[in-house]
Amino acid sequence: MGSMFPKVYDVAMKPLEATRFKKVRTGLVGNAEGRVLEIGSGTGINFPYYKNATQVDAIEPNPLMSKRANERLRYARVPIQLHECGAESLPFADDTFDTVVATLVFCTIPDPMKALAEMQRVSKPGAHLLFFEHVRMEPMLLSKTQDFLNPLWEKICDGCQLNRDTLDLVKKSGIEVAKVESYYAKLFLYIKGHNVKK
Ligand SMILES: C[S@@+](CC[C@H](N)C(=O)[O-])C[C@H]1O[C@@H](n2cnc3c(N)ncnc32)[C@H](O)[C@@H]1O
Repeated sequence: MGSMFPKVYDVAMKPLEATRFKKVRTGLVGNAEGRVLEIGSGTGINFPYYKNATQVDAIEPNPLMSKRANERLRYARVPIQLHECGAESLPFADDTFDTVVATLVFCTIPDPMKALAEMQRVSKPGAHLLFFEHVRMEPMLLSKTQDFLNPLWEKICDGCQLNRDTLDLVKKSGIEVAKVESYYAKLFLYIKGHNVKK
């Protein structure tokens, strides 16, 4: 984990946050209900948007990202507890959460299938699993461009995989996909899924 990325993340994201992302976060995070798990909460950018959650457990492995998140806790309207860990091994019991939130994070998780399995383990049957992710683009020219840029991109952006097909991984994990909305020529997807475990 580099120390530069956490310092520049919020500044670099500002133009996107001010336009479309703010609306997406307002809807996705604002609708997260009950006991909520947030995966890879980074600098805590989602924290002020929670309004219907009874409690949020936010996990983040990078303490430099969490430093800023800790400061953002003061803007939260619901109780939020931060945990320092990765999504591939979650310190929660089975069937704990009503909703899981993951925004711009599955691109960076080293073992996304393990993280998706953990999400399903710790959430209740029927739980809402909400994602907002950038993904591999459909037109071949654009996906090949993503492949070409990825080696440099992952170095600059702390391991982020620009060309990861997260929707495909979500489907393969057994999560039931109920809704997909796309933004910016399908580079970003909002994915609403359900935990279908019995
Ligand atoms: C691009 S940032 C996104 C932060 C925030 N979720 C947002 O919407 O802006 C990706 C985050 O994923 C975190 N991350 C990296 N590996 C992870 C893992 N194994 N489990 C959970 N989060 C991880 C990074 O530390 C970083 O904070």
